[in-house]
Amino acid sequence: MFNTVPKRYDLVNRVLTLGFDGRWRRRTAKLCLVTRPARVMDICCGTGDMALHLAQLATSDVEITGVDFSEPMLEVAKYKAAARGLEHKVTFSTGDAASLAFADGYFDAVAVSFGFRNLTYHNPMRDKYLSEILRVIRPGGKFFIVETCQPHITPIRMLYHFYLKRLSSKLGALISGQMGAYRYLGHSATEYYNAQGVRRLLTDAGFGHVDFKPLLWGIAAIYTTRK
Ligand SMILES: C[S@@+](CC[C@H](N)C(=O)[O-])C[C@H]1O[C@@H](n2cnc3c(N)ncnc32)[C@H](O)[C@@H]1O
Repeated sequence: MFNTVPKRYDLVNRVLTLGFDGRWRRRTAKLCLVTRPARVMDICCGTGDMALHLAQLATSDVEITGVDFSEPMLEVAKYKAAARGLEHKVTFSTGDAASLAFADGYFDAVAVSFGFRNLTYHNPMRDKYLSEILRVIRPGGKFFIVETCQPHITPIRMLYHFYLKRLSSKLGALISGQMGAYRYLGHSATEYYNAQGVRRLLTDAGFGHVDFKPLLWGIAAIYTTRK
C-alpha cells in the first residue's frame, strides 16, 4: 500500500492535518533529544520527516537512522535529506520492523510517527514488532510514539470520526489518486485504540510506565515509555 503513495504523501499529510503533523513530529523529536541519546532510530520512517526533524535539532555526534520497508518512501526521504543538506546526519535504510538488523540494546531511543497504528492495528505481527523494538532499545532507553488517538469528549470524537471516514479519505484519494490507502487511514484511525489501549499494549509488551500527552483535544497523542 505504501509503495503507491510516496509522490504526494507529504502533501496529503499537510492538507489533512492543516500542517499540524509537522509540529507534532517536531515536538516528539524535541522530547526525544532532551534525553540526550547517542543513537536514535526512526522506525517506519516513510518519507523521513521525523528523522529529518531529529537531524535538524540534534548535534552532529548523534547517530540517526531511519528504517522503513518501502523503498519508494525511502527514496523520497533520501532526496529530502540531500535537498536540506542533512544527508551526513541521517542514514535511511530498508528494513522490516519484524526483524531489525541491529544488535540488542543498540539504540538509546526509538521514535515512530504515525506508523505505530500500522504495526499494531489488527496486525497479526503486532507482538513481534513490539518485541523487536524493545530488543533494539538499551535498558533504560526510551520509545516515543506520535500517533492518531481518540478524543475524550464525545462530540469532538464524533466530529473527528466523521472527518476521518467521510472527508479525509476522499480528500486523500483525490490528491494522491490512491483510494485504498486513504480508506485504510480513515477506518484504522477511527477504530484505533484510545490512550488506555495503547498503554495496555505497551505494558503488555514489556515496556515501563507510559506517559501520555494529548494533542489538539486528543485527535493525536505523544506517548513516551521506557525499556
Ligand atoms: C503512515 S506511514 C508513516 C510514515 C512517517 N513515519 C510519517 O511520519 O509520515 C507508515 C510507514 O510505515 C511503514 N511500515 C509499515 N509496516 C512496516 C514494517 N513492518 N516495517 C517497516 N516499515 C513499515 C510504511 O512503509 C510507511 O512508510
